[in-house]
Order: sequence, then C-alpha cells, then structure tokens
Amino acid sequence: MPDEDLAAELRSALTELRAQLEWQRDNGAAWLPRGAPSGPRPGLSPLVRGPHPDLSPLVRGKETEAGGKGAAAEAAPAPAEREVTPVSRETLEALRAEIGDCTRCKLHAGRTNLVFGVGNPHADLMFVGEGPGHDEDLQAEPFVGRAGQLLTEIITKGMKLQRADVYIANVVKCRPPNNRNPEGDEIASCMPFLHRQIASIQPKVIVALGTFAAQTLLAIKTPITRMRGNWHDYRGIKVMPTFHPAYLLRTPGDKRLVWSDIKLVMAELGLPV
Ligand code: URA
Repeated sequence: MPDEDLAAELRSALTELRAQLEWQRDNGAAWLPRGAPSGPRPGLSPLVRGPHPDLSPLVRGKETEAGGKGAAAEAAPAPAEREVTPVSRETLEALRAEIGDCTRCKLHAGRTNLVFGVGNPHADLMFVGEGPGHDEDLQAEPFVGRAGQLLTEIITKGMKLQRADVYIANVVKCRPPNNRNPEGDEIASCMPFLHRQIASIQPKVIVALGTFAAQTLLAIKTPITRMRGNWHDYRGIKVMPTFHPAYLLRTPGDKRLVWSDIKLVMAELGLPV
C-alpha cells in the first residue's frame, strides 16, 4: 500500500477512535482527557443517549396530569443539557399513600373500603373496569364478585396467566351507590389517579372492560359494540375494549366475542394462543 494511502487510512481510523472515545466519555467513561472536542456519536441519533421517547413524563419525575407525550417532548431538555440523574418512576405505593383516606368526591361517604387496584406493578397487561361493586367494596380488591370470578377465569383458564401477573384497576376507586355509573365530578376526581397508575405500571396492553371504562379511558363516545375487537391508543399504549364480564353473565352467548378480543391481546403480548 502506498505511504499516502496508509497515512489516510490511519487518519480515518484515529478520527473514528476519537469519536468513539468521546462518545463513551460523554456517557460515563472517566478516562478520556478533558478538553477533547465532543459531540454526538457519529451515526447515532441524540435520542439514543436520552430516555426512551415513549416514556411518560412521570418517568422523568415530572408530573403532569394531562401527561401527553407532546408536553413531555417540549418539557424535556435537549440531551446535551440533561443532568445525569437516575430516572425514577412514581411507585404505586407512593400513589396509594397520596390518595390516602380520600374525600375528594362524594363517593367516599358510601364506601367501606377504597379499592385502589391489585396485581403486578410492572405488568405488561392491565385490565380497567368501571368501579367497585358490593363485594369489591367489602374486600378492598377489584373484580372479586361474580363478574370478577369470570374475569379471573378469562385470565387463568383462557390466558393461562395468574391474577398476580396482571394489574387490575377501575376508573373510580369507591363504590357508586346501587352500582350506578360514576358521575362527571366523581370521574374528574378519580381519573388522574388511574392515569398515574398506568404511567407507573407502563403496561404494553390495556383491556378496557365495558362501555364505561373504554369510553372514559379513550375519551370517546363510540359504542362498545363498535370499539371491541379493534385496537385503540391511550398515550402510546394499545387498548383493547371488550365487553364487561357482568354483561357476559347476562349474555353468555357473547363470550366468544370476548375470547376473540382476548386472543388478539395474547398475540400482541406474544402469549401462546
Ligand atoms: N365491576 C367493575 O367494573 N369493577 C369491579 O371491580 C367489579 C365489578
């Protein structure tokens, strides 16, 4: 190889080596002498060096109730300015403590127990129902009555999972009197906590159980018969609306439709169908 070619190749290799070392130094390696010019690693987008763009604002320790990704993107400093601090996710325990002995809406007056939610705090799959019923109010756990037993069968016999593998919560945390639908002011008081539960858990898929949960979560008025069986989006998380198990107790013929929705969920999660 002629001397000039060798020199050019060496220069190019040195340039690449310096770029690599600078990138490593910027990402925590302490041994590269300071003062060397720095910049992003060639060929890598700046996002590679920061938190995943899909992470909710809560993950970055910045709490917004609206919590949209757009807001998060605007609020996040540019990678070069970002302080190197460990990111922390709001824990469900902290959230539960914040709700406390809640009196934020009138539902508190009739409850025995506040029903926060149950299951794996890092679940890939989350079920969201409407609100606690009689049994849930007594036991402080969602979906433990007759409809709950059917949901448990869907999880254990249908999906071959345990209840403890998934997370189960409701739109409102206190039982509405006579199992009526939650009212606007009650939803407004409680929904921020469901948003924050979801942001903490970061499931891959949410199954919205019944008209009320699906319409509230997705902020749309589409009937459940049109929503079910189709994927929807909640802040970047896939949502599958399906019939409420209480409806299935009255209309067992529609169980096959729920099963076909659940099979879509299983396929999405890579579970054997
Ligand atoms: N129905 C719901 O929507 N949630 C429960 O927890 C129980 C019944």
